[in-house]
Amino acid sequence: ARKIWLTRHGESEYNQLALIGGDSGLSSNGEAYAAALPAVLKSRVPRDDEDAPVPVCVWTSTLQRTIRTARHLPFPKVQWRALDEIDAGICDGLTYAQIAETYPDEYAARKADKLRYRYPRGESYLDVIARTEPVILEMEREGESLVVVSHQAVLRVILGYLTARPQQEIPSISIPLHTVIELTPLPDGTVAVEYIPVP
Ligand code: G3H
Repeated sequence: ARKIWLTRHGESEYNQLALIGGDSGLSSNGEAYAAALPAVLKSRVPRDDEDAPVPVCVWTSTLQRTIRTARHLPFPKVQWRALDEIDAGICDGLTYAQIAETYPDEYAARKADKLRYRYPRGESYLDVIARTEPVILEMEREGESLVVVSHQAVLRVILGYLTARPQQEIPSISIPLHTVIELTPLPDGTVAVEYIPVP
């Protein structure tokens, strides 16, 4: 059977400073996650009839933190701009506290309707839902097992879609750092979801 593994990038330098967006590299914790990923995934790859591991492909975003997180994985890799993190526009590079202080109306508007709220010169969750649609279609067409290394907002959208969650719930789906989310498509068309924390 085929598997899809979803993971955020390892902890980034921006994550450590609580800054959103940007294109930073990994912190030392993030590097440790990247180093641990190959063994975690290899232990999960299904075997075929000859007891050989099935082929696996890795999809990342075009941002440094996902490329670096995936770099030790011994599988072919493809970068997708459509897997890049939600564009926070004028709020890119700020902390949530700084956003609340600098742009209180924006902060309140997002809190009131996180799904529809669009950052000035950036994106909304609805925008992310629209731009990830081609990737999700390709993901469903793809027969191989797949590792998707992306970002919190984008993975909420992908997991929400694959598990048929109501759109309104998508912006609050839990996608913890340093956790592989293993999806197993079931014969009835639903998917089983397992969260695998990586110490
Ligand atoms: O940098 C963006 C965050 O990963 C998205 O999280 O939509 O909960 O603000 P949020």
